[in-house]
Amino acid sequence: MEKSEVLKKIEELSESLRQHNHNYYIDDNATISDYEFDMLLKELQELEDKFPEFADENSPTKRVGGSITKKFETVIHRYPMLSLSNSYNREELTEFDERVQKLAGKKVEYTCELKYDGVAIGISYKKGRLYRAVTRGDGSKGDDVTANVKTIRSIPLQLKGNFPDDFEIRGEIFYPLSVFSELNEKREKEGDDRLANPRNAASGTLKMHDSKVVASRKLGCYLYYVLGENLPYRSHSENLAAAATWGFKVPKMDKKLFSISNSIDEIFEFIDYWNLERHQLDFEIDGIVIKVNDYDLQEELGFTAKSPRWAIAYKFKAEQAETKLNQITYQVGRTGAITPVANLEPVLLAGTTVKRASLHNADQIEKLDIREGDIVQVEKGGEIIPKVVGVNLAMRSSDSTATHYIEQCPECETDLIRIEGEAQHYCPNSSFCPPQIKGKMTHFISRKAMDIDGLGEETIEQLFEVGLVKNIVDLYDLTAEDLLPLERMAQKSVMNLLEGVENSKQIPFQRVLFGIGIRYVGETVAKKLAKHFKSIDAIVNASFEEMINVDEIGDKIAESLQQYFANEDNRALIYSLKEKGLQMEMEEVESTQVSNVFEGKTFVVSGVFENYSRDGLKKEIEANGGKNVGSISKKTNYLLAGDKMGPAKKEKAESLGVTILSETEFTEMLH
Ligand code: IVH
Repeated sequence: MEKSEVLKKIEELSESLRQHNHNYYIDDNATISDYEFDMLLKELQELEDKFPEFADENSPTKRVGGSITKKFETVIHRYPMLSLSNSYNREELTEFDERVQKLAGKKVEYTCELKYDGVAIGISYKKGRLYRAVTRGDGSKGDDVTANVKTIRSIPLQLKGNFPDDFEIRGEIFYPLSVFSELNEKREKEGDDRLANPRNAASGTLKMHDSKVVASRKLGCYLYYVLGENLPYRSHSENLAAAATWGFKVPKMDKKLFSISNSIDEIFEFIDYWNLERHQLDFEIDGIVIKVNDYDLQEELGFTAKSPRWAIAYKFKAEQAETKLNQITYQVGRTGAITPVANLEPVLLAGTTVKRASLHNADQIEKLDIREGDIVQVEKGGEIIPKVVGVNLAMRSSDSTATHYIEQCPECETDLIRIEGEAQHYCPNSSFCPPQIKGKMTHFISRKAMDIDGLGEETIEQLFEVGLVKNIVDLYDLTAEDLLPLERMAQKSVMNLLEGVENSKQIPFQRVLFGIGIRYVGETVAKKLAKHFKSIDAIVNASFEEMINVDEIGDKIAESLQQYFANEDNRALIYSLKEKGLQMEMEEVESTQVSNVFEGKTFVVSGVFENYSRDGLKKEIEANGGKNVGSISKKTNYLLAGDKMGPAKKEKAESLGVTILSETEFTEMLH
C-alpha cells in the first residue's frame, strides 16, 4: 500500500470507530457487534504498529490505556472550579428565585439538571482534540488525569462539527451502578474487600497510575457546563445542545435529564419527578441543580467567593424507612472482626427491599440504644449497605430490654477482644474459628494471591465441613483418594485441583505473603515487605523499628505484623508452608532486557530525579536497549536532566544539539 493510502485507511477506520463508539456510548444505540468493532480496532492497531508515523495519540486504539502516570502533575484551573450553594427545602429555592427575579426585573428562564454524585472533571479541548483533563482539587488547582480520562469511552478524544478552537467542558465522572456491583462481585471472588461507595471508588480509579486498569473499569461521564471565550451561544442550554453535536454526552431533554423551566412550579415538578424516579437511574444523584439559563443575567448575578449566585443545588434527603428490628446477629469476618447486623422486617427503601442493615459496632448500638423488637429508622445514604440511624422510642414496648453486646464469638465461643482506640470487637481465635479459617483459605486461593485453579469458595466450604482441611497447610496434603469420594468431585476436577495446588508452589514470595492474610498486609504492602526484607525469616525476625523504616509501612501495619508473628500457631503455619515447598524468599532477578525502545541510543544521566535513583534510571535505560555514557559528546543522543543539574552540562548539550529529556518525557518514551 502507498503511504498516502495507508493514511487514508487509518483515517477512515478511526472515523468509523469513533462513530460506532459514539452510537454505543452516547446514543445508547449499538450499530455494530462487539466482535465487528474489535476487528476494526485490530485492523487499525496493526496499521498503526506498522506505520508508527501515522499513529495519533487520540486514536481510538488509545482507549485501552497503557500509559503509566507516576505522579499526577498539578494544574491551575483556567476558571476556578467552584461549588454550588445547597438548599434542602423548597422555601430556600423560592427565595433564590425571588432574588434572581428582583435583579432581572423580569421573568427568568432556568435550567434544571441532575446533580450527579461523582467526581468533578474539567476537560479542555484545543482545535477539537482533547488536550487535558484535570480534577477539581481544591478548586483553584487540580491533578492532571488526562491519560486516565482518555480511556473513558463516552468522552470524545476528537470532536466533530463546528466547535470553538479552545474551550473547557466540565462534568462528572462516575461508576454506573451496574458496573460498580459487577466490580464488587469480582473483588469478592478474588479475595479483595468490597468497595463501600461508587463515588469514592470512581475517585480512586481516576487516580490510578496504570491507565489500562482504568480502561477496564468502564467509568461513565455526563458533561454539564461549557466554558470559554468564544462559545457559540449566550445561553447555557444552547451551548450544551451545541456540545452534544460536537460529540459530548450531555443531559438531554427527551430523557428528562434536562429541562427549561419558566417558573418555580416547573422547577418543583422536575424535582418531584426525580425524587421518585432517581432509583431507576444506573448512577447516583444527590439532588437537582437549577441554573439561570441566560449568560448576561449570569454575569450580572456574579459569584460569591465559593459559588455562583446564578445557580443552586436542591439536595435530596437521604431516604429513610421505618421497620421492625427482629434480631441482632453478629458476623465474623476473615480477620476476626465482628460486625453486628440488624435483621429487619423487609421494607421498601430507595427502590429495593431491605432485610438487613449495618449496626456498625457496639458503640453505635449503645449510643442509639438500639434493641431487638424496636421500630427503627433505616437510611440509604452514599453507602450501598443501608444503616440503622435511629429508634422510634414512642413505639418501644414496655418489656423491651437493653441490648447486651456479645462477649464471646458466635462461631467458636472464644472471648472477644477490643483493641484500644478501635471501635470493632475481634475474635482472637484466628487459627481455629471456622469463618476465619474459611475466609483465610478463600483469600489464600484467590487470584491475586496463590491463584489456585480448581478451588473455589464452595469447595473450600465442602473440604472444611468434611474435615479434610483445617488450615491452609492442609491443602498441600490433599490426595486423589481423599477427594474422589466427595460430592461433585469427578476425576477431572480432582486432577485440576491437585495440579492447581502443586502449581501454587511456584507463586512468588510477595503473593504468598499477601495470601497468608495478615491484617493490613494487602497486595502493595506485601510487595514492599518482600522487596525490603527478601525472605519470610527476615520479616519474622524484624523489630518494630526495622519495619516502620520501610517505605509506606506505618505503626498500624508494623504492629499487626508483630502481633501476628508473636503467635506461635502462626509461626508454625509459616514453617509448615515452607516445608511444603512454597516460595518464602524473593527471587533475585538480574535486570534483563525488557524492550528495545532505546536500541542504539546513548544517554547521559545527570541531576536528581523524582521517581528514580540515578542508578535506577541507568538500569532502566540498559534494560530497554540503550547505553549509558559518562560525558556529553556529539554522539550522545539524550541528556536525561533531573533537578540540580549543573548549567555547564545543559549548555554543552544545547551547543552540540543533544536532545534534553525531562524525567516525564523519559517515562513517556518508555511507555
Ligand atoms: S454546575 C459553578 N451542574 O456539584 C457551578 N455541577 O456542589 C458549576 N455537580 O462542583 C457546577 N452535577 O462537581 C453543575 N448538573 C450539574 C452538576 C454539578 C453535579 C457537582 C459539581 C460541582 C458540585 C457542587
